[in-house]
Amino acid sequence: MFSTQTYINRRNELKKLVGNGVIVLFGNNESPCNYPSNAYYPFRQDSTFLYYFGQQRDGLVGVIDVDNDKEILFGDDIDIDDIVWYGSVDSVADMASQVGVANSLPLKELSTLITPDTTRKIHFLPPYRHDNMIQIMDLMGIHPSKQHEASSIDLIHAVVKMRSTKSDEEIAEIERAIEIGYKMHTTAMRLTRPGVTEKFVGGQVDGIAHSYGAQVSFATIFSQHGEIMHGNPSMNVLESGRLALCDAGAETINHYCSDHTRTYPVNGKFTQRQLDIYRIVEECHDYVLDVAKPGVKYRDVHFAVCRLMTERLKELGLMRGDVDEAVKAGAHAMFLPHGLGHMMGMDVHDMEGLDQINVGFDNDTQPNRDQFGTNALRMGRALEPGFVVTDEPGIYFIPVLIDDWRKRGHCKEFINFDLLETYKDFGGIRVEDDLLITNNGCRFLGKDRIPYHPKDIEDFMNS
Ligand code: GLY
Ligand code: MN
Repeated sequence: MFSTQTYINRRNELKKLVGNGVIVLFGNNESPCNYPSNAYYPFRQDSTFLYYFGQQRDGLVGVIDVDNDKEILFGDDIDIDDIVWYGSVDSVADMASQVGVANSLPLKELSTLITPDTTRKIHFLPPYRHDNMIQIMDLMGIHPSKQHEASSIDLIHAVVKMRSTKSDEEIAEIERAIEIGYKMHTTAMRLTRPGVTEKFVGGQVDGIAHSYGAQVSFATIFSQHGEIMHGNPSMNVLESGRLALCDAGAETINHYCSDHTRTYPVNGKFTQRQLDIYRIVEECHDYVLDVAKPGVKYRDVHFAVCRLMTERLKELGLMRGDVDEAVKAGAHAMFLPHGLGHMMGMDVHDMEGLDQINVGFDNDTQPNRDQFGTNALRMGRALEPGFVVTDEPGIYFIPVLIDDWRKRGHCKEFINFDLLETYKDFGGIRVEDDLLITNNGCRFLGKDRIPYHPKDIEDFMNS
C-alpha cells in the first residue's frame, strides 16, 4: 500500500474531475471455484478500487459523495468463525483510516444511501463480475444487461485520465514486478530443453512469481506453438528444433504488473531460418525505442513497425509489392495479427475493463474495427509522459490463416503463398518489453534486460 496521503490526493483529484454526484467503487468478492469456501486463489481486488481505496480485502465498497464531500468505506467486520478459520484482519474502520477515509459503515447500510429511487447521479464503472452486477441490480434496480450503458462515462474518463499517467511510486512498483518477471523468464530459459513438458516450465515460472510474494499478472503463456497468441502450457513435450515462446509477467503484492515475452530455441541454438525471422522481430522491437515519444500516436508507431516488418519480409521473399500499399491493405496482418502493445499498470492490459475505446483511443484517434489485425489494436492514441506501454511485435505462421487467405486470394498480390506454405511448421516469435514514455522519448523499464539478442540467448541457455 502507498502512503495515506496518496489515496487522499487521488480521491480529491477524482472528485474535481467528476464534479458532482455520488461515486460508488465496488471492490471484488471472493470467487468460488467449485464450492463456496474453495475460492480461486489468490483473491484479486478490483484495480480501480485499489487505486482509490488501497485495501485488498473482499466485500468492500468505497463511496465518494462528491456533492457533500463525504467518503465512506462500506464493509462488514469479520466474525469469530472467520477468525477461527482465517485469522484476524483489520476492522473496516481501521482500513478506512489507513487510507484517510473518515467514515465506515456495514455493507447493508449502502442500500439506505443508494436506492432505485435515488435522484442524484450515481457514478459507477462497468461491472465485470456477476456478484457485483447483482449488487448493482439490488441497489439501483438496473438489470445486468443494461448496466454497461448505465455506467458513468464521466467517471470512466476521470479514472482513465488518472490511471494512465504513472507516478514515480507506481513506476518503482512496476519495476519491482519487472525484477520478478526477469527471474521468471530466466528460469524458463534455463529449464527449456528437449524432453520436458510445457507445463513443467510454465509451472516453475508461476512458482517463481509466488515465491517472491507476487502472483502472475495473467495466465502464463509458454508454448512451442508460438503462433497461438495466448497458448497456455500443455502436457506436450518440448522438441529439439522448435522454438519456445514464453509470455509471462509478475504482479507485485501492491498489484502492479510486468509483461515480457521471449522466444528461444528449445535446444539452445537457433537455425538459420529461425534467425532470419527472429532478426526482423528484434529490429522491429528496437525500432520502437527510436520513435515512441510524447505526442506521437502509438497507432503510428504500430504502422511504422508494420512497414519495417513488411520491408524485411519482402527481402526474405515472403511478401512482395509496394510496402505502403501492402500495409494499407492489411497484408502484414498475416504475420502480425495483433497491435504493437497496450497500456500496462495495475492491470496487465491496463483498464481494459473500462473499454478499449476509452483507454487506447480518443477523439483524434479512432479504432479501425473493419480490418483484420488493425481491429486488434489496443493502444492508438498520442503518447504522454508517464504512460507505460508494451512493445511487443511478433511474426507468426498460423496454418489456418495461411489456408484461409490463400483460398480466398486475400492480399495475394502482397504475399508469396508458395513460400509461406513451407513455414507452416515454424511456430511464432514475439519479443516484448515494457516502455515508459519520458518527457522527451522513452525507455525500457527494469534494470536487467532478459536476454533477447540471439547470441545472448544462446550463451545464456548454454551456460
Ligand atoms: N501478455 C499477454 C498480452 O499482452 O496479451
Ligand atoms: Mn503484452
